[in-house]
Amino acid sequence: LDNGLMRTPPMGWLAWERYRCDIDCEHDPKNCISENLFIDMADRLFEDGWKELGYVYVNIDDCWSLKTRDKQGRLQPDPKRFPGGIRKLSRYMHDRGLKLGIYGDMGNYTCMGYPGTPLDKIAVDAQTFADWEVDMFKFDGCYSNATDQEQGYPLMSKALNATGRPIGYSCSWPAYQGGLPPKVNYTQLGQLCNLWRNYGDIQDSWDSVLSIIDWVFENQDVLTPAAGPGRWNDPDMLIVGNFGLSKDQSRTQMALWAIMAAPLFMSTDLRVISGEARSILQNKMIIGINQDVLGFQGRRILKEKSGIEVFWRPLSNNASALVFFSRRTDMPYRYKTSLSKLNYTADSYKVTDVFTGKTDILKDSTDFVVSVNPTGVVMWYISAAGKLQDEPPQITKIDS
Ligand code: DGJ
Repeated sequence: LDNGLMRTPPMGWLAWERYRCDIDCEHDPKNCISENLFIDMADRLFEDGWKELGYVYVNIDDCWSLKTRDKQGRLQPDPKRFPGGIRKLSRYMHDRGLKLGIYGDMGNYTCMGYPGTPLDKIAVDAQTFADWEVDMFKFDGCYSNATDQEQGYPLMSKALNATGRPIGYSCSWPAYQGGLPPKVNYTQLGQLCNLWRNYGDIQDSWDSVLSIIDWVFENQDVLTPAAGPGRWNDPDMLIVGNFGLSKDQSRTQMALWAIMAAPLFMSTDLRVISGEARSILQNKMIIGINQDVLGFQGRRILKEKSGIEVFWRPLSNNASALVFFSRRTDMPYRYKTSLSKLNYTADSYKVTDVFTGKTDILKDSTDFVVSVNPTGVVMWYISAAGKLQDEPPQITKIDS
């Protein structure tokens, strides 16, 4: 969507995967969907170095409202859980250079049974979000049918625009239509939405992450041309920092979300996140690759019988990123190849391992070996050798 927003994939935090529809503030005050949760996460983003890296959105998902609209027909936050209203939260974010996102649903109800935004409510709800000074809106699709969606998603795009407030627009529409043409029209989506979910919900497991990776890259011929500045495929939240992924699997999610030019919405408890998960999510080089200004979504370029897969994303300044991923479940696999086998044709390249910070100069024809852990990755930032202006952001090295 050409509204000037999200020229690189949006980054921030989104409540759903980790906090779901926990509304039991009496017994679970720290984790229930309430203004305190969003304030806590905003404080962490602001104080723990996330904001400077680009993680600026703090997004509410389902279960924030009352079950009924107010007398004027407007959605209203649950006053017990959001005593200051949504306006208080947007002010809190803006005072700290952060942004606030909110959630609605195209049908009569949200997926969790809260009031939806059917066709006749679209204008009033868009205006309410603008009045609250919200910066992003996710439009879910439960309890709506294909015909309503065809009207509703474009109508909401127009209605948000008509408020005059810049509001990033996330559409769940394609996810409810199987994610593929002919049911999904990606040219149209790119004109209507800043990002869109194509596929099922992420869960806190490696199986779930792998199924998303497989679906996206199996359909890359359809999906990659759809992405670009202002319009992104959304493979769903980062679950790094939660319970389902090992360290290698967490690196894999981060690396491949960067290759995919995916929105980076963490859904984890930033108050207690481990140092290991933090360093993966705060990896400057991977974030730099994710945020590359060209906005090309990367592709899988090789699927080896050995279970090694190679992914590639072209970047600005004649640079690129490569990911070597192992589907194996036995031991680190020594994968032997050369840059020329991976379609690189210049004489020599500077290669930086984004996790270790180690650099190397590699001739295109030289064979090399990468050791890839089971369900893990090796990720490289590659630039033309000997050009200083192509330096990737360097990792600060601490000598032990
Ligand atoms: C389905 C969406 O895909 C999820 O991301 C989340 O928003 C839930 N609905 C909320 O009910």
